[in-house]
Amino acid sequence: MSASLSGKVILCAGSATGIGAECVLRMAAEGAHLVVGDLNLDAAQSLVDKIEGLPGEGHAVQFDISDPDSVKGLVESGVRHFGGLDGMHINATDRLRNREDFDLLSTELDVFDRVLLVSLRGHLLCARAGLPEMLKRGGGSIVFTSSDSGKTPANVRMSYSIAKAGLNALMRHVAFRYGREGIRANCVSPGLVFTDAMIGNTTEEERQQLAAGVPSTRPGTPEDIAGVVAFLMSQDARYINGQAISVNGGKVMAIG
Ligand SMILES: NC(=O)c1ccc[n+]([C@@H]2O[C@H](COP(=O)([O-])OP(=O)(O)OC[C@H]3O[C@@H](n4cnc5c(N)ncnc54)[C@H](O)[C@@H]3O)[C@@H](O)[C@H]2O)c1
Repeated sequence: MSASLSGKVILCAGSATGIGAECVLRMAAEGAHLVVGDLNLDAAQSLVDKIEGLPGEGHAVQFDISDPDSVKGLVESGVRHFGGLDGMHINATDRLRNREDFDLLSTELDVFDRVLLVSLRGHLLCARAGLPEMLKRGGGSIVFTSSDSGKTPANVRMSYSIAKAGLNALMRHVAFRYGREGIRANCVSPGLVFTDAMIGNTTEEERQQLAAGVPSTRPGTPEDIAGVVAFLMSQDARYINGQAISVNGGKVMAIG
């Protein structure tokens, strides 16, 4: 599906595990150099170790997406290491308070604040810190990991849905405002992917219910998402800008 990413420098924020990690490996296999930023440095470093032997190279950096100085430090470290920036995959989410994220009346405000801090404001901080470096190179591609939750209604996970809907709006702003300067921004919106983190945050019964709603033969895998992220980073996607692309086996279908 995607063309080679040979020599492209791509910063992956919140990508040490799960979907993000698979995207890193896929892009390294296509020759990209990856700055792997995550709160969990051990996981980021062991992912970078796995890149050895692939065409691309990796550089692990510990950072906290909720802290503007830390985000700046991540970008600076990546640029110092690889000489510039051609793309960003901004992927972090924090599931610590996920099971306390209910509905409008029962969700504590500090849960709402934490979810938005990491899953929306943090993505904005990354885009803001990395964009000038991409502009110096004449443009590039930004992919935010959103979710179908940002497009569909649900009884629970109010804060998460709001964060993901906000990400879609942030992505469209970046695409619209900076498109003429060579920047493409898109979201990938996974449906159901049984990563370790996802499994840790759901019951077996919930997972069975969710899987029953997928019209394809199986739930999604991190590899399904990684192929689309690599494609969006590539020249093959040069005229795709401002889209939130669902990769969900048909779980949510656009009507029209
Ligand atoms: N798994 C699914 O079914 C699914 C569905 C839709 C969307 N998504 C989205 O895909 C993305 C990846 O999800 P995943 O299932 O692979 O989860 P994951 O927990 O494996 O990945 C999230 C990463 O973010 C990092 N992180 C958390 N807080 C951070 C912080 N403060 N600073 C820096 N890094 C931080 C974690 O350490 C982790 O590596 C998320 O944005 C999630 O919302 C996942």
